[in-house]
Amino acid sequence: MAEATQAAITAVGHYLPENRLTNADLEEMVETNDEWIRTRTGIVERRILEDDDKATAFMGAEAAKEVLEERGITGEEIDTIILATVTPDYLFPATACLVQKEIGASNAYAFDLSAACSGFLYALTTGANFIESGRAEKVLVIGADKMSSIIDYTDRSTCILFGDGAGAVLLEASEDETGIIDYIHRSEGDTNLSLYQPAGGSLNPASEQTVTERLHYAKQDGRTVFKKATVGMADVSEEIMEKNDLTADDVAWLVPHQANLRIINATANRMGLDSDKVMVNIDKYGNTTAATIPLCLYDWKDKLEHGDNLILAAFGGGYTWGSIYLKWGWK
Ligand code: ACO
Repeated sequence: MAEATQAAITAVGHYLPENRLTNADLEEMVETNDEWIRTRTGIVERRILEDDDKATAFMGAEAAKEVLEERGITGEEIDTIILATVTPDYLFPATACLVQKEIGASNAYAFDLSAACSGFLYALTTGANFIESGRAEKVLVIGADKMSSIIDYTDRSTCILFGDGAGAVLLEASEDETGIIDYIHRSEGDTNLSLYQPAGGSLNPASEQTVTERLHYAKQDGRTVFKKATVGMADVSEEIMEKNDLTADDVAWLVPHQANLRIINATANRMGLDSDKVMVNIDKYGNTTAATIPLCLYDWKDKLEHGDNLILAAFGGGYTWGSIYLKWGWK
């Protein structure tokens, strides 16, 4: 039997809107202040896609184009596109299909994946499984969200948290020991709906009432989600280290979902990692949902070395959470 193939990230791309929404801007919009936002979340500013005619597909396609350019390939060489998002351009068709068209990936099949802030992790392991099975050679994995489209800018408990952005990676068969080694993914149906968008789906389709009651915006019971996220993200990060006999010294970088700096620090502490091994860019972009982890990989790509051990970890609505252990295979 042939040796098992591992899937490695072989290029990274991104897109961030130019427009910045700062804590000072938010002070003008809701009853909040810079000090509260910084100390409770670590966020200083976020990016907002202002153009009315552009949304998640646009940002995902821009990130994907950068991946193609970086790798020196055309869209036609891509055979699968998986796009993680909670803010698709339309409920259908899939945003991944819109990206496919935009980047000329005419030989690919494309689909969306919905797992909130864990979406990129789930999409990455789904893509990796296609590579490992030998059924795909080049898989484009995109995390993209226009969170500003579902945020209520009169609700101070959510509007300070989120921003817009996209990140994308290419997965290909690894030629050495690098690539995705292991993952732990978990879900727990949250029937209390601590984090959700009440209307716009098949249970509460758009109506005059849903609009009047502002039900098309994201709602969150922050305290409840915070407790679950702090424990969940740290648990799976510690567990994947134990499962793979990794000590803190073996780990080059933690790549955490950027929802709250306090959640990130709790995970790093449990893993025994110093802060200089933790990727943090929440101060600049806020929580971009499916885009936070690939945006971290993009921002740190010049510091990463071939063979570095990375732990990716996320927690989000669903509930969904998980960790991935990979050896950096690019460059
Ligand atoms: N500015 C000022 N004060 C505020 C603000 C604000 N923007 N928001 C809330 N407060 C007040 C509250 O009213 C409360 O006042 P009270 O004590 O008088 O009632 C006080 O600040 C503390 O509120 P908490 O909600 O307890 O604040 P907390 O420390 O929990 O921080 C936060 C809130 C930042 C939302 C935090 O709970 C959090 O990060 N939760 C988890 C987010 C997360 O991980 N989500 C999952 C990923 S997202 C996804 O999947 C799409």
